[in-house]
This record gives sequence, C-alpha cells and structure tokens, in this order.
Amino acid sequence: IGYDNQVFQQQQLSTDIEQQGLEDQITLAISHVVAEDTPKGRSLAKFAELVEKYSDNSIQVKISPNGMLYNDHSEVQALIDNKVQMIAPTFSKMTAYEKSWEVLDLPFLFDNEEQVEKVLTSRVGHNLLNMLQQDKMLALGFWQNGFKQMIAQDGLLREPSDFQGLVTRVMPSTVLEEQFNLLKAQPIRASFDEVYNAIDTNSIKAMENTLSNIYSKGFYKKDRHITLSNHGLLGYAVIMNKDFFNRLNSKQQDAIKKAMADATAYNYKNAQRMNELSYQALQNENMHFAELTMTQINHWKTVFSPLYKTYKNSENAYFLRDIQSVLQ
Ligand code: LMR
Repeated sequence: IGYDNQVFQQQQLSTDIEQQGLEDQITLAISHVVAEDTPKGRSLAKFAELVEKYSDNSIQVKISPNGMLYNDHSEVQALIDNKVQMIAPTFSKMTAYEKSWEVLDLPFLFDNEEQVEKVLTSRVGHNLLNMLQQDKMLALGFWQNGFKQMIAQDGLLREPSDFQGLVTRVMPSTVLEEQFNLLKAQPIRASFDEVYNAIDTNSIKAMENTLSNIYSKGFYKKDRHITLSNHGLLGYAVIMNKDFFNRLNSKQQDAIKKAMADATAYNYKNAQRMNELSYQALQNENMHFAELTMTQINHWKTVFSPLYKTYKNSENAYFLRDIQSVLQ
C-alpha cells in the first residue's frame, strides 16, 4: 500500500481508538491459586465482569487461576511489585504480614457462617482490615470460602489421639502449625500448588481444607476420609496494589469500589452453597465421612485451648475480646 494510504489507515485507527476510549484502557491482572469453580474463583469472575461493566470497559480484567502465574510463596511479592494488581490470599497466609490476623486462624472461633459474616462486617472486622493497609497494599475487603474439614488417607480422624504422628500439610501460619503440634501431628508447610503431588507421593497423610478446595483439586482421589469438623475458617483478604488504584481516575476507582461491594455480597451468598455442592459431589465419589460428636468437639477444644491463651497474652488480645463481644 502507498504512503498516503498507510497514513490514512493510521489516522482511521487513532480515530477508532479515541472513539472507543481504548487509549485509556487499563489492564487489571489478578492471580490466584485455586480452581475457577470455587468460591474465590467465582467471586473473582463476578468482580471482573462488574469492573468492566462499571468502568465502561476502560478497565479490562485478566484472571490467572490455579497458581499458573504466582503461587502462595510469590503472589504477595508479585502484588507489591505491581506484576499483578490484585490477589486474594487466605487469612492464614496474611498472618506473616500482619500478626493480629492470627485471631482469625483460631479453631472453633465461629460456630457458623452467620457469625463469620457478623464479625467480618463489624467494627472489629473493619479494624482488622485496616491493619493490613500498608505502603503498597490496599485491602479492599474480606471474602469467605467456608469452614475447613480434616481429610486423611488412612482413616477417619475423630479424637485428638488419631492425629498422633500424622504428617499433615498446613498453610504458612504459626497458629495452624501449633494447632497440629497440639494434636501431636507432624505439620509441614506446603504451598497449595504442591499439595496434590505431596498427597500422591505419600509425603503428607492428612490436611485441613474446605470441601470446595478438596473437590476441585482432586485431593479426595487418594485421601478418602473426611471428618466434617468445621473447626476453622478459610477466608480471603482481597488486596489491590495501592499505586495501581491511586493512578486510576475517580470514575474507575468508583467502579472498583462498587464492583467489590457487589462481588462481596455475591461471595457471602454463594460460598456456602458451593461447599454444599462439593459435599454432594464428594458423596457421589463414595468418600468416607464422619461428623464429630459434642464430646469429641470438646476434646478438640481442650487440646486447642493453649492457642487462645497465647493470643490472649499477646499485644493483639483486644481483637479477640472484640470478636467475642460481637458474638455474644
Ligand atoms: C490453601 O492453601 O489450602 C488455600 O489457601 C487455598 C485457597 O486459597 O483457598
């Protein structure tokens, strides 16, 4: 094509771009470690859809699931370095950055999902979220997955003594590690993307996780025993790179805030349902299930009581007091 024609095509292209507002288009990259068909995967997809809509497509969202970009070890640093702009790690994984968050890892802190929502949306929830606001991190809110259950290879775990010597995978969290030390198990920290292989090669024999994570990652294929212990919460901190957010125009910032509020409502409504669906799917896989009796729960609680004592003696004790008073 001749020179004039090229110039004309370039001019036409710039006009098209201006008309569509594409010159201002920004990409928001999100990385996460779980499967797409999970409470976190679905909530992020909802958030993405809404951000694009509310920003009139001036923000395009790109989600990379399954730890394909960054895993547990690397995703927070990737966010700080603005290699990705948003992540949603578990509360447990954030305890390394903010010690007060250990309170959310305490076993049997919550009896049900309603209590979780009550606390996370209360003033103490707001205060905990504020603790996470740091130089490069903008904590947008809390999401939930649900309660963790115990899954094991060699039998159903009912009494604390059943854990004796069991090599058990934990997320990077001092409280969770201590929880399994108190059960006299052998906790080992492993990143989520390492778990399948560790189960497959028998390097771990048990773990705690939600039914949606257990089902969507196929952990049940080798570990056939699930104790429906509901002993601990698996929740997420939704975090954005602060510089990225500050550089957006005010309309785009509003789009992010509104999409986050709507996706959070969606998350609270759907997380429990997704775990119920995973429960049905796991039943169809003929897994062995056990529920704990009140007596067994009390045995577990007695074993875990030093965790509460430690937190109560820490400088963050007031978070526990505040949570307990919200729950009264
Ligand atoms: C895990 O590591 O077990 C979970 O944190 C994965 C997740 O993000 O739900």
